[in-house]
Amino acid sequence: MSQEPKVIYLKDYTVPSFLIESTELRFELFEEETIVHAELKVKRNPACEKSAASLELFGHEELELIELTIDGAALDEKSVQREGELLILSSLPETFVLKSSTRIHPETNTALEGLYKSDGMFCTQCEAEGFRRITFFPDRPDVMSVFRTTVEADKKRYPVLLSNGNPVKTGENAEGRHWVTWEDPFPKPAYLFALVAGDLKCIEDSFTTMSGREVKLVIYAEEKDLDKLDYAMLSLQKSMKWDEEVYGREYDLDIYMIVAVDFFNMGAMENKGLNIFNTSCVLANPKTTTDASFQRVEGVVAHEYFHNWSGNRVTCRDWFQLSLKEGFTVFRDAEFSADMNSRTVKRVEDVSLLRTAQFAEDAGPMAHPIRPDSFIEISNFYTMTVYEKGAEVVRMIHTLLGPELFRKGSDLYFERHDGQAVTTEDFVQAMEDASGKDLGQFRAWYHQAGTPELHITDEFDGQKEEYRLTVRQTCPATPGQDKKTPFQIPLSVGLLDQEGNELRLTNGEYSEVLEVTEAEQTFVFKGINAKPVPSLLRGFSAPVKLHYAYQRDELMFLMANDTDGFSRWDAAQKLGVDIMQELIGGYSVDRPMALDSRLIAAYRAVLEADGLDKAMVSKVLTLPSQAYLSELSEVIDVDAIHNVREFIRKKLAFELEPLFLKRYQENNLEVDYSPDADSIARRSLKNLCLSYLVATQKTEYLQLAKEQYAQSDNMTDMQSALALVAHSDDKVAGAELLDDFYAQWKDESLVVNLWLSIQAADPSEGALARVESLMHHPAFDAKNPNKLRSLISVFCAQNPVNFHAKDGSGYQFLADRIIELNAQNPQIASRMLTPLTRWKKYAADRQVLMRAQLERIHQCDDLSKDVFEVVSKSLV
Ligand code: PHE
Ligand code: ZN
Repeated sequence: MSQEPKVIYLKDYTVPSFLIESTELRFELFEEETIVHAELKVKRNPACEKSAASLELFGHEELELIELTIDGAALDEKSVQREGELLILSSLPETFVLKSSTRIHPETNTALEGLYKSDGMFCTQCEAEGFRRITFFPDRPDVMSVFRTTVEADKKRYPVLLSNGNPVKTGENAEGRHWVTWEDPFPKPAYLFALVAGDLKCIEDSFTTMSGREVKLVIYAEEKDLDKLDYAMLSLQKSMKWDEEVYGREYDLDIYMIVAVDFFNMGAMENKGLNIFNTSCVLANPKTTTDASFQRVEGVVAHEYFHNWSGNRVTCRDWFQLSLKEGFTVFRDAEFSADMNSRTVKRVEDVSLLRTAQFAEDAGPMAHPIRPDSFIEISNFYTMTVYEKGAEVVRMIHTLLGPELFRKGSDLYFERHDGQAVTTEDFVQAMEDASGKDLGQFRAWYHQAGTPELHITDEFDGQKEEYRLTVRQTCPATPGQDKKTPFQIPLSVGLLDQEGNELRLTNGEYSEVLEVTEAEQTFVFKGINAKPVPSLLRGFSAPVKLHYAYQRDELMFLMANDTDGFSRWDAAQKLGVDIMQELIGGYSVDRPMALDSRLIAAYRAVLEADGLDKAMVSKVLTLPSQAYLSELSEVIDVDAIHNVREFIRKKLAFELEPLFLKRYQENNLEVDYSPDADSIARRSLKNLCLSYLVATQKTEYLQLAKEQYAQSDNMTDMQSALALVAHSDDKVAGAELLDDFYAQWKDESLVVNLWLSIQAADPSEGALARVESLMHHPAFDAKNPNKLRSLISVFCAQNPVNFHAKDGSGYQFLADRIIELNAQNPQIASRMLTPLTRWKKYAADRQVLMRAQLERIHQCDDLSKDVFEVVSKSLV
């Protein structure tokens, strides 16, 4: 690193000195270079106080400026300064036309930011600061302008030429080249700009909006993937309808396009009218796609569509406000998915993710509030905190206001700020103004990091017929924030009597949201004549850790009787955690393992019960994950967690074998594949039962898995069976199936990713060597983020016993990959670093090894800002 990178602070925000009225772009795309012509109509910003201020354009160091004029004349040398990423123009008139021509090289762009090539097609990724890799521009979200874009390229290679908005003109040039001009009438920041050029095929459909306008919907992909686009189209139509019904939001352009690309750093991008998607988030077909991916496609299509209002029409003032659009949009897509499928299942899945990955982030060296106040590289802040915790914060506002007032608030927000670039404060203010609810204290959620903890104790007073809950809240220190003020926390509770009936609470209902605001506070329930069992944090009403000394019998009681589906599942998790933690504690002192029979009894009851939602049954019967137990550990004992979990799984499998088999057979139906919630639930229960059966290590069940593999007509059943056989002790059978699978699917890139992941996650010995050899397999491509994630990240995050091998080989392997990737694709390099950043959670011997690798990365020359920020913060 030649120079320490600069820290950017929210407190330094100033309004832009110039505004851009319109932007006209012309792209000449060639195989060895691309020329970008830009014409900006610029005027001084009346809101900017510095009257002589200069104009700051951003342009990546690699941009080659060919020509620059103002009102047709070249600038004199004194008024142009190029400093790193900045091109500063001074002595400027009030209004002027700025023209530039720039040479760029998408054909060698491996960072996948700005304009780059994915499998022979050109595409762009501009959020957050990728536009500055395309041309010189005030690349900041509060500078919004209308864009008119002409794309010119070879007609044969690139028959399809797309940009934002509507196509307005097209034509042909000499030498087999053609061009299309697109116009986007809605002012937008540069991060929402998009361009695509390639040999693409598409499917088309339409949507009639609530005011009766017909919108053309087009989804583009490579020809071989045309049979995998219908589900995304259906999901798009459902999203459009849902946003009209639930938020009153109508689509605004005449055309909505989605393009699938194979090389993409993230999931998808909401560019105005022209979403660009990672193939993994848009392609879906029963033969090649698992249930989990079907649901992901539905959710991500919705997410990007919802951004059209929460993100595009109303955008962010600066990147510290990222959660304004992401937190809100994740909340919106979660509610959409809940409405389309099972609400409880969706909640359980989201909470599981939050409690493992986000809580771990909040407790680690990169912890930040959902609205951070400083960063080195904004790409590092597309985090679980900004997205998922951000969504939880919006959900809490929804809980505190209730659905009607929340809708009033969102209406006011959209109406007040349409066409503007605003802050999270503007969002909260609109919610407050529309509802009359004081959210003063609530704002702490936006600027305080860390996961609050609630310590709850209770007291029953028979004489007074009173039940009292005392809630104490704390929040651990996080980097730069030693002391926290109390949060306002909606705590949803219910009380159950000894027979399992719910009691009426102070509000006359069975559930009540207590508003916790003090460091310590007591809530009194009157007219209670026997000690109840409390059901706490129903529906996970706040992103907190809850501590209450439940007895195991009480947890079983809640599993059986709680009316809140989420809480029934959570009781099962707590019971599992409690039992596992006891065994994990005994593991290091060689205490022989024995399983509390209550867990067996609880599982049996769930397996025997009729009429339960199958998806919930399979969630309840899934032991707390290794990742969740790690997050809950003071010091993570990787081997203890793994072995205890496997011991319990095996024990349960033997004890409940006939029931697992019965449930397996009942749910192993020969029906056509459908990705609806009930069918998904059935398959998930079936495959969970199969996994327990295989855990017995009886050959008949391995055989059963092989049969399922051979007979399945869908990828969900096929990949579940494959993973079970591949991870079993029968390595010969595993290898045979893996070979068969590859031979069958080698031309389906996304299916090959499943094949890589299954091998990367195999906990048996020698995993690192297998992963290293897969890196040389034709199935792997170190330039493709999906391949890197499937192989390397899965190994590091989902194969803890091997990644954390005592000799440090896993750590060294990851550090080697980061060092290679640092130059090639800094965003991916920095994301892949995460497992090493958690070194403080491990025992001393591993700490030393992990730290040594972080140091090694730290000492490399030419570290990207992305990697530098994460490594240096982790070493503090
Ligand atoms: N804004 C995208 C989304 O959340 C995510 C993204 C960020 C994609 C940065 C690419 C680059 O929908
Ligand atoms: Zn988003």
